[in-house]
Amino acid sequence: MAKSKDPYWPIPEATAVKHSILKRYLGAFMGVFFSTCERYGLKPKVVFIDGFAGPGKYYTDESRDPADMVPGSPLIVGELANGFRKGGKAHRKFKKAQAVIFAFEANPGTAKTLTENLAETNRFDMTWDVHQGTFEDGITNLLDYMEKNKIDPAPMFLFVDPFGFKGVPLIEVCRRLFAYDRVEVFFNFMYNDINRFVGVKDVREHMIKIFGGEDGLDELAAIKNDPQRRLQCTLERLTTAIQEHADFVLSFRMNDPERDRAKYFLVHASKNFRAFQLMKESMYKASDLEGELSALSQASKDLRSAFRAAAAQGDYEDWVLERLAKTGPLRYADGVEPFYVETTGVSKHYKAAARALAKKNAIVIQHKWDKNRQQGSFRDGDVLRLARPGESYAAHFKASKQAAGR
Ligand SMILES: C[S@@+](CC[C@H](N)C(=O)[O-])C[C@H]1O[C@@H](n2cnc3c(N)ncnc32)[C@H](O)[C@@H]1O
Repeated sequence: MAKSKDPYWPIPEATAVKHSILKRYLGAFMGVFFSTCERYGLKPKVVFIDGFAGPGKYYTDESRDPADMVPGSPLIVGELANGFRKGGKAHRKFKKAQAVIFAFEANPGTAKTLTENLAETNRFDMTWDVHQGTFEDGITNLLDYMEKNKIDPAPMFLFVDPFGFKGVPLIEVCRRLFAYDRVEVFFNFMYNDINRFVGVKDVREHMIKIFGGEDGLDELAAIKNDPQRRLQCTLERLTTAIQEHADFVLSFRMNDPERDRAKYFLVHASKNFRAFQLMKESMYKASDLEGELSALSQASKDLRSAFRAAAAQGDYEDWVLERLAKTGPLRYADGVEPFYVETTGVSKHYKAAARALAKKNAIVIQHKWDKNRQQGSFRDGDVLRLARPGESYAAHFKASKQAAGR
């Protein structure tokens, strides 16, 4: 009798990084969203669509020990949702929280395995469905249904995680999906494969689907002997196409450490700054290069600078000074969005830059006092401004503290 094929495979290192971002982000996102729903009496429901779902589990290593497995993307989401229902150490308890899961998986055996794994994990009887078939058919049917029935959907997170470049009508899906407001797309852009095949006639239709048209594809293919420029142009071409539909686009680079090459990019698109901010923080925590969103980074300086220039503390300080010169006094909170969008940093870099500039008396921070105030902490209403000649932040700090009777 033929031995049945093992539905599982060992988790690649890059997949573990990808999962850590997914888990961190969705954990934070669900926490914020469910709390908001509770506060405003709204339905605490989110929808996770997994376009290329896989079997739901991985072996931890080549020993392929079934007793030692880790969850794949649909199970990560399922377990997170269970955690919010159950409450406890990791999350607050939300009795009515719902994460709907639609998983598309083309391989019948893999789809069957995933169905069993999800059923076993579904302890709170949530709606978790596996559709055996292609992502393209599944998402098209779903979008047709939503449009026909004028559905106002719950927040939706679409994860598109193919093995290569086939069957991904990315820009068409973005066009239709971003007609709704609370929608996000997280796409694994397999740069390595796309780079190799972008100029090949036989797979042209797949490339057109990913990039949303033929424009610029020949130009990309024609960039020879300059891998950095090709990488940069490819990413720019993709980002520009997504930005036609979404306001915020963020990329995380996953390297091939042995070959000093970008292997793939995780690209997140949304219409909401808060989603962008949470994703950037999640990516930042998974990054192993200071000042960049990147992992498995044995990458050379050239490759790194092709992505986005790595930033140091001095760059963030320059950003704050330039911003204040342009805007005049600035509420701390009003600087957060431009800082996240225009620099590689997150809030800890913004705060560190402001603190360092205050220490050098280059700027003054006008703190709002309250009883829990700690020195060096920031509140939304604090105002940052350029220091006047001879003005000392320390003196300003002391005076304002005294004025507040502290
Ligand atoms: C990279 S794996 C997915 C891993 C999963 N997202 C995770 O993180 O655990 C890609 C999966 O997509 C499936 N697949 C391949 N082509 C597909 C298609 N056109 N539509 C849907 N699934 C497809 C493969 O069988 C495979 O299980």
